[in-house]
Amino acid sequence: MKSNIATFLTALFTGLYCTASATGAPAGTAAGGFSWDTIPATGQLQYHECYGSFQCSRLEVPLDWSNQSNPNNVTLAIVKLPAVVDVTDESFGGTIVINPGGPSGSGVGIVLQSGRGVQRIVDSDKHFEILSFDPRGVAFSTPSLACFQDNAARNLLAVLGVGAGSLENSHYAMDVKWGIDQGLGRLCDSASNGIYPDGSDIRQYVSTALVARDMVEIVDQVDAHLRKEVHSRRQSLRSHQAIMAPVSDPPALLNYWGLSYGSYLGNTFASMFPERVGRMVLDGVVDADDYTATGWTTNLQDNNKTWAKFFEFCFEAGPKCALFDPSATGPQDIRDQVDSFLAELKDNPLPLVYNGNAVLLTYFEMKANIHLCLYLPNQLWPLLAVSLKSLMDGNLLSLVSLQETAEQWRKATSNRFSPALPFQLSQYQPQSTYGETGDDLPAGYPWQLEAGVSILCGDGDDITSTTKAEYEEYLSLLQSQSPLVGSIWAEIILHCIHWPAAVRPAPENRFTGPFQSNLSDYDPRGSPLLFIGNTADPVTPLRNALKMSERHEGSVVVTQDVPGHCAGDVNPSVCTFEILKTFFRDGILPKPGLVCAGSRRPWDD
Ligand SMILES: *[C@@H]1O[C@H](CO)[C@@H](O)[C@H](O)[C@H]1NC(C)=O
Ligand SMILES: *[C@@H]1O[C@H](CO)[C@@H](O)[C@H](O)[C@H]1NC(C)=O
Ligand SMILES: *[C@@H]1O[C@H](CO)[C@@H](O)[C@H](O)[C@H]1NC(C)=O
Ligand SMILES: *[C@@H]1O[C@H](CO)[C@@H](O)[C@H](O)[C@H]1NC(C)=O
Repeated sequence: MKSNIATFLTALFTGLYCTASATGAPAGTAAGGFSWDTIPATGQLQYHECYGSFQCSRLEVPLDWSNQSNPNNVTLAIVKLPAVVDVTDESFGGTIVINPGGPSGSGVGIVLQSGRGVQRIVDSDKHFEILSFDPRGVAFSTPSLACFQDNAARNLLAVLGVGAGSLENSHYAMDVKWGIDQGLGRLCDSASNGIYPDGSDIRQYVSTALVARDMVEIVDQVDAHLRKEVHSRRQSLRSHQAIMAPVSDPPALLNYWGLSYGSYLGNTFASMFPERVGRMVLDGVVDADDYTATGWTTNLQDNNKTWAKFFEFCFEAGPKCALFDPSATGPQDIRDQVDSFLAELKDNPLPLVYNGNAVLLTYFEMKANIHLCLYLPNQLWPLLAVSLKSLMDGNLLSLVSLQETAEQWRKATSNRFSPALPFQLSQYQPQSTYGETGDDLPAGYPWQLEAGVSILCGDGDDITSTTKAEYEEYLSLLQSQSPLVGSIWAEIILHCIHWPAAVRPAPENRFTGPFQSNLSDYDPRGSPLLFIGNTADPVTPLRNALKMSERHEGSVVVTQDVPGHCAGDVNPSVCTFEILKTFFRDGILPKPGLVCAGSRRPWDD
């Protein structure tokens, strides 16, 4: 356990690649004796015990839902945490599908990490099973979206990008990153991995529209499986009740809670298959129009505000915050010190001797670390303050307390439903302890960047005609939205500027809107959507939730007055949790305009 923390700290400080996650390919054997390879891929759900008390299944679905004559399949890795009651129990409430976002976040990983935590939130006198899946090409689903042949080459190129520094700082950084993404595009275009015998390429078939269609299949399969299970249970109880529902039963509906990009997946599902919407929560909301346009211009509107909250809460916490200074008269005094440290770092990277090694902290890496920390105030802000303080003091002895803080953070996030970290920073992810078996599994997987890029560039409009000059203007726009994170965020579309047409999805496999629903004509068991937005979310500002909600008839936005990305189980609010319980139990939405307070602040005990 200790070595993992040390590795993570090294990564946090230096952006060096976390070797544990870089080599820990999820394909093949996982810890705890379970390996996905050992269970067969089938056209019906067949569960196998895995990771302690979880159940795993590999489901075969068509590669191309819009072409019946394409014989190829993809295999989805599916995991379920059973409900705390038997499926025949009257209080069994059904299935809730969760998604941590990304795109490219592992659904399997998030259920193993947070299934119990989600259950704790949504269960009331109804008890739910929690299910997720690795979307096509992601993590344990096959074939994979990996483009590189080996990790060493992948990491070398990534390190080159990190070393080139922050985009706004030099033309050199821009030129290097432009070139790296040209290379990535060419590689993914020519990669043999994921090519079927007939030449079909997995990369053309990982659009969100196809994943939404996969969810229809999953819902049908889960329904069929539950019916069989109830049937056999009742038979073994020798019940004489009607056991199989009549064939004329309406189709099963999707209950869903998606974070971040998971809100785009849910939004797509609701817009394509409104007749299949059960209870859907979209949390940390993406502006679907902007995402579909490969814009990424409506994410950072509240990023400044989130960073300001860091100093506000730190000042308010007093001596509990490592950056607190008794002579500070307000948050701005603390901020001034951090700002001058960052400005100094721009020209003077900080050499550190740590654990018997020399490491170098650059401005770009420090900003990337702060970007990452802004997602999870409750779990990461005290740690960020300690880390900044020790770097500003050059006092490496405080690494000891950092280690303790990291340990606390690990404890605080295990069992919590948290958004996937940005795939560009996937190498920073620490290992997580999953399930009851205490298995250590990689939270990230080596080809997460390739997977994320394949999905989001194909989902978005083709922007390959963008010139360097136009891209520089784009960079300025994002920098004006957030001086701290703008240039990091701008790297997302750089991948798409170089994304080859040959691996884009066909038009019939893209859904480009309109993103909307009116469920009043459909199944009365379905409910309008529930949106959740935070007042200071670093990458999905509240205004996106309000905008998207307007398109979904009868939907309601709950505002959480907290900083951080998504509600999930990382930004606890008793008020929001009550709303979620009621919504999943009865399909009842709260009154519009409700603002929920957070139940804790980062420096609270
Ligand atoms: C695709 O999956 C279906 C359902 O499991 C199966 O019947 C079919 O043989 C598979 N096709 C291929 C080419 O593997
Ligand atoms: C459908 O799939 C078949 C078999 O792979 C292929 O020959 C055909 O071109 C595809 N049709 C379209 C419209 O892509
Ligand atoms: C963020 O702050 C910078 C100055 O630090 C300012 O120029 C910019 O307008 C702010 N952006 C937003 C969206 O408030
Ligand atoms: C939603 O559908 C219902 C029933 O068809 C209709 O009466 C209502 O006007 C629709 N709402 C909107 C905003 O179109």
